[in-house]
Amino acid sequence: MPGLTIVGTGRYVPGEPVTNEMLARVMDTSDDWIRQRTGIGQRHFAPEGVGASDLAVVASQRAIASAGLSPEDIDYIIFATMTPDFPFPGPGGLLGAKLGIPGVPALDIRQQCCAMPYAFQVADGLVATGVATTVLVVGAEAHAGFMPWERWDALAGEDVEVPEVQRDRATRHRGLAVLFGDGAGAFVMRKHAEPDRGLLGTITKSDGRAAKLIFIEGGGFTRRPHWAPWMLDEEMHIPRMEGRELFKTAVTRLPEVVRELCARHGVTLDQVDWFLAHQANDRINGAVRDSLGVPASKVPSNIARYGNTSGATIPILVDELTQQGKLQPGQLVCFLALGAGLHWGAALMRL
Ligand code: ACO
Repeated sequence: MPGLTIVGTGRYVPGEPVTNEMLARVMDTSDDWIRQRTGIGQRHFAPEGVGASDLAVVASQRAIASAGLSPEDIDYIIFATMTPDFPFPGPGGLLGAKLGIPGVPALDIRQQCCAMPYAFQVADGLVATGVATTVLVVGAEAHAGFMPWERWDALAGEDVEVPEVQRDRATRHRGLAVLFGDGAGAFVMRKHAEPDRGLLGTITKSDGRAAKLIFIEGGGFTRRPHWAPWMLDEEMHIPRMEGRELFKTAVTRLPEVVRELCARHGVTLDQVDWFLAHQANDRINGAVRDSLGVPASKVPSNIARYGNTSGATIPILVDELTQQGKLQPGQLVCFLALGAGLHWGAALMRL
């Protein structure tokens, strides 16, 4: 039986890159620290007024064009983001409207950095049951608004004084702030034309007991009102992260789920051509690689140029590798990701 496959890819990142040196204009950090601990050299940020659906529309148009299709061929949208344009509605419907295909069903999923294993699982179900034939899967993030600095002009290099209180605040959140960047990646997915190709299977897991390892407290719907000025004073719009614990969890859970999935499908690790991992931190992926005993050449990284774009990292990576001609028909790919929730999972696909 053929499975679900990727027939088109696209990516989009906004504006000019923001280097580590530029971040050092608004907080106490350094290029050395960031590169050594994360592998990140630069990232992009969405300008004021630009949301995840705006980034997604460009990536989606590129993915649809690369599939040789037009937007009208899309019969389902799955939009993964942890930074929707509005608390509600989710951005899937907005994306459909911006693509000129209102009426197409749109599902918003909230698995943060673990978006793609979940999105593949859902898209596979939709196609297998005949609900859809051509699914647009998009991951897009506009994290800029939860960055802990205010002087974007200083970041951009304008000769302005950053008040000490603001610099101190940004520095308090520097462990988190240096990690994230904005961008979008999209897949057009259909059933493979040939038998024994496409998605072989997925394993997804969640554990809400660990929800507070990385989360945003402000703006939740448990308060009256949901948002109040005191929450900004308490910096509750900035995610809280227990970086070390998250790191340890990722380097344990990811190899576990990859081994479980490969065993379930009778695949040995050396039969896998590519391990396409969520780009949260190069050191996490290095430790996962060592734990699995797979060569670095099979675990490509592009985090140096984008930072962690959460739900967008895997489609951005796949789009780059496709354009570089590295992903070839018949190769076996294992996707793996872990993100806030916690959610984690893996997917095996024969291209
Ligand atoms: N620049 C300079 N110094 C810094 C910075 C920075 N940006 N951030 C922290 N430091 C300092 C700390 O203040 C601390 O200094 P001290 O020893 O004087 O107290 C020192 O560096 C070590 O800080 P740690 O937080 O212990 O550093 P660690 O080695 O754990 O690295 C990091 C931090 C990079 C965040 C790491 O823990 C990590 O990558 N964790 C996983 C994070 C992650 O993957 N998040 C996203 C996944 S989920 C999702 O994507 C939604």
